[in-house]
Amino acid sequence: MCGIVGYIGTKKASPILINGLTRLEYRGYDSAGISTIEKDELSLMKDMGRVKNLSTIPGIDDLEGTIGIAHTRWATHGKPSKENSHPHMDNSKTFSVVHNGIIENYETLRSKLKSNGYTFYSDTDTETIPNLIHFYYTKIKDVDGIDRFLKAVRNACLDLKGSFAIEVISKDFPDNMIVVRKDSPLVIGKADGENYLSSDIPAILSFTRTFYLLNDYEFVVLSRDNAKFYDKELNPIEKELKSIEWDAIGAEKNGYEDYMLKEIYEQATSARETVGSRFQDGQKTSFDELNFTKEYLESLNRIYIVACGTAMHAGLAGKNVIEKLCKIPTEVDVASEFRYRDPLVDEKTLCIFISQSGETADTIAALKLSKEKGAKTLSISNVIGSSITREADLSIYTHAGPEIAVASTKAYTSQVVLLNVLAIYMSEVLENNNQTYLDSLKKDILELPEKIEKTLKISEGLRDFARKVYQEKDVFYLGRGIDEAIAREGCLKLKEISYIHSESYPSGELKHGTIALIEKGITVISVLTDKDLVKKSVSNIQEVITRGAKTLIITNQDFDTSSFDVVLDIPETNTFISPVIAVIPLQLFAYYVSKEKGLDVDKPRNLAKSVTVE
Ligand code: AGP
Repeated sequence: MCGIVGYIGTKKASPILINGLTRLEYRGYDSAGISTIEKDELSLMKDMGRVKNLSTIPGIDDLEGTIGIAHTRWATHGKPSKENSHPHMDNSKTFSVVHNGIIENYETLRSKLKSNGYTFYSDTDTETIPNLIHFYYTKIKDVDGIDRFLKAVRNACLDLKGSFAIEVISKDFPDNMIVVRKDSPLVIGKADGENYLSSDIPAILSFTRTFYLLNDYEFVVLSRDNAKFYDKELNPIEKELKSIEWDAIGAEKNGYEDYMLKEIYEQATSARETVGSRFQDGQKTSFDELNFTKEYLESLNRIYIVACGTAMHAGLAGKNVIEKLCKIPTEVDVASEFRYRDPLVDEKTLCIFISQSGETADTIAALKLSKEKGAKTLSISNVIGSSITREADLSIYTHAGPEIAVASTKAYTSQVVLLNVLAIYMSEVLENNNQTYLDSLKKDILELPEKIEKTLKISEGLRDFARKVYQEKDVFYLGRGIDEAIAREGCLKLKEISYIHSESYPSGELKHGTIALIEKGITVISVLTDKDLVKKSVSNIQEVITRGAKTLIITNQDFDTSSFDVVLDIPETNTFISPVIAVIPLQLFAYYVSKEKGLDVDKPRNLAKSVTVE
C-alpha cells in the first residue's frame, strides 16, 4: 500500500525522506519518489522499483532543500511507471503533492480541469490534486500568503471523493508544508525545530517519540518549529501531542534474518503483554475501558466480529469462546462482504472490529455502517490512535508491538488471547459461568508464554518437512471446530509467503467434492486439538491416506498416530486458546517453505501490510 513521508526542518531533507521510505517498504510498493524545495524551485526525482534505486538518480546527492515530501506507490490507477510515480506536480510546477488513498471522482475532476486548460501526463487519480490546488489558488482573492495556499488546498480537498492522506509543498512557500487526511493514515512527529510526517509511526520513531494524530479533514500548516491545525471551515483548532512508548529498536530485526521470523519468536512476549495485568488473584477480570453492565450484555441479541484476512481468522477462533462463555450468538464476517450485505445490526448488537493496523479500509467502512445502524462498536487494534480506534465507541488493544512483516503472526495470537480475555470478562459481568472454570481458563492463558516457547523449539523440526514440500503445487489443510479456524490461518500463511496453492477445509467437508483432488504424494496438514472431535478428524485423515496423501499432524491429544508421516506433539491447553499454540508450527512451516524457495518472506509479491483502499 502507498506510504508517505515528509520533513520540514533545518537538516538536508532528502536522506531523511529516503530513510523514512525504506522503513515503509514493508507496506509493499512498486515505485518511489521525492520532491524538495531547492532555492525556490521544486525538485522532483522518482522512478519505478526499489527505494534504494532513488540514490542512483543523477543529482539526488546535490539536493540541499530542508523541506520535502516522499512516497512509495502501490499502483491503483495506472500501471507502475515513472510517470505514474509520486510526487506529482501541477502544470505550472508551483505545487508538488504526494497522496495515499484513492480519489473516486478523479475522472470528473480531470475533465473539469481539462476544460480549464490543464493537461495531464500520468494515468493517476493523484495528478488531479496539485492541478486542482493550482486552479483554486489562482481564483482566491480574499486572502493572501499562506492563508491563500491553505484555502486552495482546503477547497481542492472538498472536491475530492474517496480517501486521501496528502502532503503539499509549493515553490512559493519554502518555509511551509500543508497536510491533511481523510480515511488514510498520516501522523506528524514533532521534534525540536523540525516536523516529520509519515503514514505510520515506526517509520519516524528514530527521530521523535511525540506525535500529533490527525482526524479526518484536519488541515495542518507546518513550519520548521510549529504546526497549526484547522478544521474543515478553516477555524483554528488545538491538538494534543501524544507520546509513544515503542522505541525504534523495537521495530528493527533484532538479529533475526527476517521480520517475520523475529515476530514469530516474539509471540510469548506479545501474548504476555496483551494479557497485562487484567487477571489478578481473587479478582474479576479488569477492563476499565469497557465498563459493560450485566443489563447491557443481557440486552444483546447478537455479536458480530468483523475483520479481514488473518484478523478475521482470529475472530473465527474467538467466536467459540464468546458463544460458549457468554451464550450470545456470535457471527464472524469478512468486512468487505459485511459492508455491502445490509447486515441485521441494531442497538441490540455489539459489533467487534479487529484490525492489527487499525487502517484497513473495509473494516473501517463496516464499522461506520454499524454505527449508523445504531450498534455499539468495539475496536481491537494493535496501533494506538489508529483510524479504527478513533471511529469506534470503545477500543481495546493487543500489545503485540510493531508488526512489520506483511504476513501477520504475533498480531493473530495476541488477538486470540485478547478475545479470550474479553469473553471471560463478559462472562464474569454476566455471572453465568462457574468461576472455578473461568479461573482455570485464566490460568491456562497465563501459562501460554511458557507453552509458546516450548512450541517454538519443537516446531523447528519442521524445516525438514518443508524441504520435502517446497516444490509442490498444492497443499491441503484440515480441521474441525476451532481446529478448522487454525487450519485456515495456517493455509493463508503458506499461500501468502510461499505462493503455493493451498486450500483449507473442514475435515468432514472434504469428501463432498474436494477429495477428488487428493492423489499420491499430495501433502495434507491436519490440526487436532479438540479432544471431542479427534476421532472424527482421524477418520477423515485416513480417507486421504488411502488416496496416497502424505500427512503432517499438529496435535496435543493422545491417539494412535502410527499411520501418519510426521506428527508434531504440541503442549496441551484449553481448546479455546489452542489456536495460540497450534498456529505456531504452521507459521514456521510456511516460513521455512518460503526460505527454501528463496523468496522475500517479509514482502511477498502483490501484498501490502495495510490495505487502506477498498
Ligand atoms: C495477514 O497475514 C495478511 N497480510 C492480511 O490478511 C491481514 O491480516 C489483513 O489485511 C487485515 O489487516 P489488519 O489486521 O491490519 O486490518
